[in-house]
Amino acid sequence: MRAIKVRAMEDGDRPWLDALLREHWGGEPTIVRGVEHRLLELPTLIAGDREGVAVYEPGAEYRVPELLLLHALRHGGGIGSALIDGLVDILRGAGHDRLLVTTTNDNLAALGFYQRRGFRLHAVRCGAVDEARLRKPTIPRVGFNGIELHDEIDLLLQF
Ligand SMILES: CC(C)(COP(=O)(O)OP(=O)(O)OC[C@H]1O[C@@H](n2cnc3c(N)ncnc32)[C@H](O)[C@@H]1OP(=O)(O)O)[C@@H](O)C(=O)NCCC(=O)NCCS
Repeated sequence: MRAIKVRAMEDGDRPWLDALLREHWGGEPTIVRGVEHRLLELPTLIAGDREGVAVYEPGAEYRVPELLLLHALRHGGGIGSALIDGLVDILRGAGHDRLLVTTTNDNLAALGFYQRRGFRLHAVRCGAVDEARLRKPTIPRVGFNGIELHDEIDLLLQF
């Protein structure tokens, strides 16, 4: 199996990420826990030949680092796993031992993916996506798997 390389984003990758955010995530900003994040301004890892991306808030002494976007352009090829492994290596090197991610109630694939990689359920915010939609109307009403999109679910990885 081909090893998937993970590298830090460079300036030349930014238009590609901007297009990906517009096509798949309703563009900027990303709203999590009611907080708006500008993903194009945050540290970002890219897998392979622009085959996947992870954007994160690096955290501070008392703040847990947060994975704000994980997206693989083809699924089941190890891209998501390579990005998580690369990010954990970076965070561990910076002295962190936890990583938080938020997904939504419709995203059954992501809930399975994260839990199979050691993430544990951490919090549920009922209606958080409905509130975010009032500020970001591009958030769809129906998400993955034909499920209505309403709630945020946090998962936490300890490493
Ligand atoms: C969730 C997501 C990031 C996972 O990325 P991915 O690249 O498909 O993940 P991986 O390939 O690393 O792992 C997925 C599965 O494929 C398997 N896999 C890994 N390498 C493989 C390979 N070479 N061939 C076949 N299967 C493989 C893994 O074992 C894994 O299965 P498991 O979860 O049952 O253990 C991806 O599906 C995605 O982008 N989804 C849409 C965006 C999204 O929902 N993001 C998360 C929002 S919070």
